[in-house]
Amino acid sequence: MKGESAKPMIESVEVSPPVPDVPGAQVGPDVFRQLLRQAVRVADLANAQATRMALDFAEVYRREQRARDEVDANLRQMSLMEKQATRYAEDLAQMLRRERERRHELERALEQERVANEELRRTGLQGISHLLLAATIKDQTTGSHLLRVRRYVEAIADRLGMPGEIVEEFGYSSVMHDVGKIHTPDHILQSEHHLSTEEFEVIKQHCIDGETMLGEARFFETARAIAREHHERWDGKGYPDGKKGEEISLAARIVSIADVFDALTSKRPYKDAWSAEAGLKAIEAGAGERFDPEIVAGFVALAREGVLERISAEVAASDADEHPGSSAK
Ligand SMILES: [Fe+2]
Repeated sequence: MKGESAKPMIESVEVSPPVPDVPGAQVGPDVFRQLLRQAVRVADLANAQATRMALDFAEVYRREQRARDEVDANLRQMSLMEKQATRYAEDLAQMLRRERERRHELERALEQERVANEELRRTGLQGISHLLLAATIKDQTTGSHLLRVRRYVEAIADRLGMPGEIVEEFGYSSVMHDVGKIHTPDHILQSEHHLSTEEFEVIKQHCIDGETMLGEARFFETARAIAREHHERWDGKGYPDGKKGEEISLAARIVSIADVFDALTSKRPYKDAWSAEAGLKAIEAGAGERFDPEIVAGFVALAREGVLERISAEVAASDADEHPGSSAK
């Protein structure tokens, strides 16, 4: 490279120092030496310039190389980051997929549990309707009496601020309050005269029989308490156990009021139906003695709001075919 750079310079030198065009002039060795030195100087200059250019070029090349290396490194870094980001995104997507699958599994399990519970509930309700069928045949209690009691109980429980599922449980449990009467002899159940002490002892037994008949299933827990305690009194003078105040379950205290009110305001073989006003007065008179005064207050409020009347009318419309019977004995 050094030789090639120098060559054009030497060629240009060959023409630069003019040889004196003097006729007869002699070209001496000094001139040649001078020309040679000049040529060598020029060649050195050219050589130095070429070297500088080569160094400059090498420097530029190195800088470019460095810049390219930096760009490559940046590209590699970016590619690495991109791969990492892709991996994170894939991991995240997989986590979300797993989460979604877990949620679906949970939802499926909950749905299965809901179906199982619903089935259990249906079976329980079916059991109730069979028991009631037997009870109504035996006792001549009307379906509409039980339905009104149930609706009154639900309205009271709702008014006391109880959660919806408890209101429902109190409602369906209330219809079994007299189920134990299946065991009570007909001549006592259908008696139209005042019951003797012995007969009344037999009647009392329906609370205990009812509780026993309802078995041990959790579904009937409230129903058992109601069957056992619906003739207990707030002042402790009721039967069969003489429980008083809050010893008596809340459900039974509510059913007691609904059952007595409906018995008073319904026609029976041995009596006419009382007016709602007269029935309500009797309930109010029993507050603090026979009944829980707080529940009586709620019941009276429901009457004033026309809720009891509406329930009674709705039940009558859904089942106008009322049969006389006896209950709340
Ligand atoms: Fe009863």
